Amino acid sequence: MFWLIYMSNLLNGELMKVMILGAGGGIGRALLEVYAGARETTQIYATHHRAVSDVSPLVRWVQLDLANPASVKALADKVEDTIDRWICCTGVLAYTDHGPEKSLRQLHAEKLQRDYMINAVGPLTAFSAMASKLRTPGLRAAFLSAQVGSIEDNRIGGWHGYRMSKAALNMGVRCLAIECARWRSNPAIVAVHPGTTATNLSRAFIQTRKAPVQSSAACASSLKQLIESLQPEHNGAFLRLSGERLPW
Ligand SMILES: NC(=O)c1ccc[n+]([C@@H]2O[C@H](COP(=O)([O-])OP(=O)(O)OC[C@H]3O[C@@H](n4cnc5c(N)ncnc54)[C@H](OP(=O)(O)O)[C@@H]3O)[C@@H](O)[C@H]2O)c1
Repeated sequence: MFWLIYMSNLLNGELMKVMILGAGGGIGRALLEVYAGARETTQIYATHHRAVSDVSPLVRWVQLDLANPASVKALADKVEDTIDRWICCTGVLAYTDHGPEKSLRQLHAEKLQRDYMINAVGPLTAFSAMASKLRTPGLRAAFLSAQVGSIEDNRIGGWHGYRMSKAALNMGVRCLAIECARWRSNPAIVAVHPGTTATNLSRAFIQTRKAPVQSSAACASSLKQLIESLQPEHNGAFLRLSGERLPW
């Protein structure tokens, strides 16, 4: 079903301007390469936090620090076009001074605030700062979240900061999807669990995992298919890459 919708959009020959946040990360970089190679892409705005190497002449790089409200506020000034695809691939799970919490004893207010800032406040305020350029008819927007941000699905606890901040992101995505539907431009704005993927973020946590882990390239390919197959009825959903809905 998703594949059929994807093919029909492609055959309609829709040209698009794409914005990828976190395009220097594992999934973000792979997605940047997928969109840069797509014949319907005419321009890509890609945000980076640390320095990055170039990919394609279609890409215009914009520096962004989600932990810095001034940097987020300035984002729209650096983007000259209206945007057809918004994909937020930023996120943080661990820092050099703190890993994800294993118990209540490891809760640190400053670390939880950092998680919240980078995983929830930053992506949502970045979208808000860009809102005037996102009223494009048929906007497709995806925020990479995580299944562990699902409150209903949480059966083992732990990873308090990551789970809490992704749950907050999910609620924020749901709120903005409802509001943007009133623009009457038929947007589809979703939170997406990309599945366990071999990146810097996951490296320390997948070493003992028995189940296979997908590559960033495989994740990016499925993610683009999902985004291109989104329809207005998906607006405000929390999805797996397969398009299956996840519980909140
Ligand atoms: N990998 C997985 O198994 C997995 C599973 C579930 C969900 N996810 C989610 O998928 C998304 C992408 O993760 P990934 O695996 O690709 O991780 P990654 O390789 O670590 O990429 C994370 C990206 O976020 C950016 N970022 C971090 N702090 C930032 C800040 N303060 N300001 C701006 N950008 C910042 C990083 O930029 P710098 O590197 O330049 O700091 C990087 O581009 C995240 O939302 C993650 O939670 C991943």
